[in-house]
Amino acid sequence: MCGIIGYTGAGEACPILLRGLRYLEYRGYDSSGIAVFNGTNIEIIKKEGRISCLERALAEAEPKGTCGIGHTRWATHGKPSDCNAHPFVSYNSKFAVVHNGIIENYLEIKDCLLAGGAHFRSQTDSEVIAHLLESLFGGDIRKAILETLSRLKGSYALGILCADEPGKIYCVRKDNPLVIGLGDNGNYICSDIVSLQLFTDRAIVLDNCSVACVTAENVEIFGFNGEKKEFQIVGIERHGDADKLFESYMLKEIFEIPESMRSAASWYKYARPLERIDKEYLKNLRRIYFIGCGTALHSGLIGAWLVRRLMPGIDVHAVVASEFRYDNYEVDAGTLTVCVSQSGETADTLTCLRMVRAKGGKVLSVCNVKTSSIAHESDYLLNTSAGPEVAVASTKAYNCQNLLLALFAMDLAVARGAISEDRRKIYWEDIVQLPRKAEECLRLDKAILDFCIDNFRRKCVFYLGRGQDYYTAMECSLKLKEISYIHSEAYAAGELKHGTLALIEENVLVVAIATQEELIEKTVSSLEEVKARGAVIVTLTPFTGEKGLRAVSDALIPLPRTDEIFYSVLSVIPAQLMAYFIARAKGCDADKPRNLAKSVTVE
Ligand code: AGP
Repeated sequence: MCGIIGYTGAGEACPILLRGLRYLEYRGYDSSGIAVFNGTNIEIIKKEGRISCLERALAEAEPKGTCGIGHTRWATHGKPSDCNAHPFVSYNSKFAVVHNGIIENYLEIKDCLLAGGAHFRSQTDSEVIAHLLESLFGGDIRKAILETLSRLKGSYALGILCADEPGKIYCVRKDNPLVIGLGDNGNYICSDIVSLQLFTDRAIVLDNCSVACVTAENVEIFGFNGEKKEFQIVGIERHGDADKLFESYMLKEIFEIPESMRSAASWYKYARPLERIDKEYLKNLRRIYFIGCGTALHSGLIGAWLVRRLMPGIDVHAVVASEFRYDNYEVDAGTLTVCVSQSGETADTLTCLRMVRAKGGKVLSVCNVKTSSIAHESDYLLNTSAGPEVAVASTKAYNCQNLLLALFAMDLAVARGAISEDRRKIYWEDIVQLPRKAEECLRLDKAILDFCIDNFRRKCVFYLGRGQDYYTAMECSLKLKEISYIHSEAYAAGELKHGTLALIEENVLVVAIATQEELIEKTVSSLEEVKARGAVIVTLTPFTGEKGLRAVSDALIPLPRTDEIFYSVLSVIPAQLMAYFIARAKGCDADKPRNLAKSVTVE
């Protein structure tokens, strides 16, 4: 949801900004731009389209200078275009600004600025910040920034250059992420800590509602009231392939699933997260909410299913974050809210977390970025440990979230006396086998893949399942939709006949997920109903010997056997692969699907 990078130091800023932007492109890729102080004034170059378009423009005329800011955009206000791209410059060219977030009262501010003679060049909400800064500037930049912030409503991470203070970058964080990197050859600002590893191994995670003044040698941080703040320097975890660019991150990340699962299980085994939670509180828990968006919500649905499956007596709900925040869900001392988020920065989920904590409820987060806002503000953390996920479509993080939620449900059930220690030991025997079984799932038969690619070229695909397989179906369907633009729906297999069956006609593709042994016959009956209307059926199942399933399916994709509580970790893998290969066959860019961004930091 927009990426910000900034550099001030001894080196040339432009190549550094460009390198940072390439790694931040997952946050938005509608347009990008840079602003560099060239010794006399602030020079801006910005372009609609991918970073490669900016790169071409810079190859013709690269601004020279050692201090600059850059931005890659995911459009909210105003379509993708050169003039709506960031940075924005103020009317007398004193300030350049990059922004991630939304300014809710921008129209009101814009009217005042227009009345004062400011000229606007874009349709964005962000441009008002640059003009407001200039209009409030009376010689003291900090004063102008604080006065500007007091007038803005909404969420924002900002990078600001002022022509009067060459070599300085001001940055601001309010409800959107921003980190400062400390290097030997200069300092950086950046939207995420993972991209900073390209340049340095030390960072400051800026507190919410803070302003920083960053120079080549120094960082100073103050609050919105102007008071100086202390800060901590943290180390940046390095990942071996950080500096490599991959042809497809999604494919790379799918193939990292087994290794990520090993890391997640081993993190859980040694961190023993439930031992950090008060035993009495766990025993007396009456209610659990699982909250998330998109793929993370699907993981929450699996979490809720697991808790229902393993222990009675707890009221469990999985709720869409953007709905939870505007509804009257009860939160009390007997409630635990589990926030699931790969990035840890999703605005809707973060707001729910804050609401719950303000009501006195406890939050456990399942996060893949341990320096993120959600991880930081939670009472307890399950560290997804999947390693950085770059492709917009979440894959390996989902498998690890589900694995951690199964471990959480298992330990909670032991803590409440719902299952025995011996049972837990048996589960662990299954868990150690899971990465190897995930490797099996990755070996998708070429003939089946070709069959699927051919059949997926249809206008609509249905995914069906019962019990937890229904939630897996939802995730499979989302994967296909978001990267291949094929319309798809997920249905509880028994629900189809209550209306949606009307859409099944000759050659419609139906993908069934059937891992619930006691429900196989029921699933077969539902499949017979779609078969009778001409559907082509592909079934993912560990029970490939089941006569009914064999007879009704046009193709079977075998899954390895495991305990039922772990199937969601495995059964999604062939569907993740199929979605990727179908998108590729259609010529879509699976890593950067249209209209989307990896980290959704606006409401
Ligand atoms: C996943 O493929 C999606 N792109 C999206 O649904 C994502 O899961 C959602 O935006 C939540 O993100 P989070 O896990 O970082 O909170």
